[in-house]
Amino acid sequence: MSDSSAPTVALAITGASGALFAVRTLAALLANGSHVELIVTDYGRRLLRDELGEDAAAERLVPFLRSKYGDEVERGTVTLHSNRDLGATIASGSHGCIGMAIVPCSMKTMAAVAHGLSRSLVERAADVMLKERRRLVIVPRETPMSLPQLKNMVLCAEAGAIMLPAMPAFYQMPKTLDDLADFMAGKILGALGFEHDLYPKWTGQGGVKG
Ligand SMILES: Cc1cc2nc3c(=O)[nH]c(=O)nc-3n(C[C@H](O)[C@H](O)[C@H](O)COP(=O)(O)O)c2cc1C
Repeated sequence: MSDSSAPTVALAITGASGALFAVRTLAALLANGSHVELIVTDYGRRLLRDELGEDAAAERLVPFLRSKYGDEVERGTVTLHSNRDLGATIASGSHGCIGMAIVPCSMKTMAAVAHGLSRSLVERAADVMLKERRRLVIVPRETPMSLPQLKNMVLCAEAGAIMLPAMPAFYQMPKTLDDLADFMAGKILGALGFEHDLYPKWTGQGGVKG
């Protein structure tokens, strides 16, 4: 059951490398009290397990997050949707979802969003964000990138999406992969319109985390 005063945000996890960025983002959204409408594609499920282990299977994500990030993830709530359910709440513009992030976003899903295909719930929910002029944050991951992929990035940006490539910075002197994930999750929360303290703000003097 979600608290009606809590912001509702959609989060899609697709089959691009960078599952750590996705789970850190989910944990941060839950810690700020959000209700998260979660969709994990078939290859997103595979990447969660391949990169983070069996404990990070989509159905077990909340206990995984609790053990990794602590009890503060209990402040929020999650609804896990089937990517095949085009009748889910977030498939409609009438649902009060304030924004959506696709973390990480495969080139395949980005191409579908760029061309408005709406074949799956991830694609449809993203299309809804664009048509309703709500925040859609796309975190693509691929390297190097082909010309069609680069053109699809431009199409998404022209349609109103915020393109936020999985490119963590190093000025905060990260020591662990979790430091890099904190940075990406902070960027994503900021793009969705949330305050956060996931990484230190640039002071002009160099930055040391801690
Ligand atoms: C281990 C693994 C890593 C992958 N990494 C990427 C990646 O970084 N970027 C990408 O665009 N596709 C990547 N792929 C390919 C996508 O998973 C594949 O195109 C898939 O069809 C994407 O489907 P989805 O967007 O519905 O999740 C990877 C696949 C596997 C198995």
